[in-house]
Formats: sequence, C-alpha cells, structure tokens
Amino acid sequence: MTADLFDPIDDGPPSQQVIADGAVLLRRLALSRAPELLADLQPVLAAAPWRHLVTPGGQRMSVAMTNSGPLGWVSDRRGYRYQATDPLSGAPWPAMPRSFRELAVHAAACAGFDGFEPDANLVNLYAPGARLSLHQDRDEADYGAPIVSVSLGLPAVFLFGGTQRQQPVKRLRLAHGDVVVWGGATRLAFHGVAPLVDGEHPATGRSRINLTFRRAAL
Ligand code: SIN
Ligand code: FE2
Repeated sequence: MTADLFDPIDDGPPSQQVIADGAVLLRRLALSRAPELLADLQPVLAAAPWRHLVTPGGQRMSVAMTNSGPLGWVSDRRGYRYQATDPLSGAPWPAMPRSFRELAVHAAACAGFDGFEPDANLVNLYAPGARLSLHQDRDEADYGAPIVSVSLGLPAVFLFGGTQRQQPVKRLRLAHGDVVVWGGATRLAFHGVAPLVDGEHPATGRSRINLTFRRAAL
C-alpha cells in the first residue's frame, strides 16, 4: 500500500479530537505554517545534521534525529539524556526557530496547557520503514508540562497507549500538519510510530518529519 496524499480525511478546516484524558489530536493545526516550519528547519540542519543515535543497548535507531533549542535529547551507550551541546560538533544546539516555538505554545494552549515554555525541540526524520517502538518520554525534569508533537510530510500511524506498557494501544493516522499534545494524566503515556509506509509527499519527498517540543529542565 502506498500512502495516499489525497486521502479525504486530510482536507477541511482544523479540528480537535480528544484521544484520552489530557491528550488531544489537533488535526491540520500546523498545515498553513508547514512551509515556514520546513524552511526554518534548514538552518537547524545545516548546523546540526541528521544522525542515527545508538541506544544504550547498542542498537542504531531507524529514525534519524537532531535538535534545536537550549537542550537536545541524545542517546548513546551511556544512556538517554538532555544536553546543551551537540555531541557531533561540541557546539550549542542551534536556536529554536521562532516559528517552531510559537506553534508549540499555541498548540499547547489549544489543548488546555497555558504557559508552555519549551526548552527542547527534538526533530525526527522517518524514511520508509523507520519506526519508533513504544516508549515513554521520561527524561524531562518537569512532567507538569505537556509534549507537543507536529507531523510533517508522509502520513504515519501513531501508537498511543496508557501509562502502563501492557495497556491497549490506539492507532491514529497522523498527516501533514497534524499536531498531537499530551500531558496531565497522559503525560507518561506509552507511544510510538508504526513503520513508515513508502510514498511521496510534495513537502518532504519520501519522508516524514516530526517536531516534538518538551520542557526538559525545571
Ligand atoms: C517521539 O515520540 O519523540 C516522536 C513521535 C512521532 O514521531 O510522532
Ligand atoms: Fe516520544
């Protein structure tokens, strides 16, 4: 099956769907700003290029990553953590583009989380077949702030479970411009991304890009 760009559910005005307590899917919220977001990503990539991190267990992640903002998420043989510098260059991570920050703050507020102050923006690149296994975002010092996740390019199936690994998992189709926010009761929900189905998107080619925003420091 190839990803269908012209799926009718990608059309229409922004809409909101509650996924679970504290978790909201804001369909198309970022659609009109997607060209600006993708343009603003280019200088971030020039300073901090895509790389495949290694898990503490030694596995190369299929998703390629980079970061913008004061803190960046990294994984290596020593573990998972946030740090202020890019391990590839030793330099601070590139600044978080204003367009990124404004969208993240707006999306959080739309989902009921006023005053979100992201200090970390992990950027994920999915090529066909890339996936993210079920995990919790728990390397942040402040679980009071939500996670804001922006989907660009090829659609993906987002897996959203409960706060225990064995709880049932919902499967949500995320398309270009969709935003998911989770916090409060679901801040520590297990989530992941099913293997990306091959396709071609006018904005990103054969890939999906995900921007996630977090409050990593207190
Ligand atoms: C993540 O869990 O960090 C990324 C989720 C996604 O790519 O939608
Ligand atoms: Fe995550």
